[in-house]
Amino acid sequence: MSGGVKPLETSLVEEMISLAIRQLSFSYTPYSGFKVGAALLAEDGTLYTGCNIENAAYTPTNCAERTAFFKAVSEGVRSFRAICVVGGKDGVLTEYAAPCGVCRQVMMEFCDPDRFQIILATGTDHYDIFTLRELLPQGFGPGSLA
Ligand code: THU
Repeated sequence: MSGGVKPLETSLVEEMISLAIRQLSFSYTPYSGFKVGAALLAEDGTLYTGCNIENAAYTPTNCAERTAFFKAVSEGVRSFRAICVVGGKDGVLTEYAAPCGVCRQVMMEFCDPDRFQIILATGTDHYDIFTLRELLPQGFGPGSLA
């Protein structure tokens, strides 16, 4: 992660990872079997959870990250510090499940790319933290229209 970003406390990171892993049991994936869980930390400390929700028509599928963001935004929350994302086939966490391009773009809408932190984990003892800028360089956001 780049310098200048306020580090998250380890206990908070671990709590977010545990919460994201718990979401895997709610993930609705009859088509891909690929389960994803997310825990989104708002600036005020509130945690919003999400899982992926698939659909027989495929394209209405919602990713775990966007489920968490839309839950928060629909409750009037628009300031965020970090998100944790975990996922894997049948819910087995062998590799990082990095956010898809659409989810990165949704993060870009509401987050400062140099401050928003994305925690990718396979367990509470194995994770890496990236800024949104690292995962979405040269991103297009609200500022691009100013
Ligand atoms: N998925 C997510 O939930 N988040 C991502 O960022 C990548 C993909 C879900 C969507 C679909 O249910 C499954 O993973 C396979 O693409």
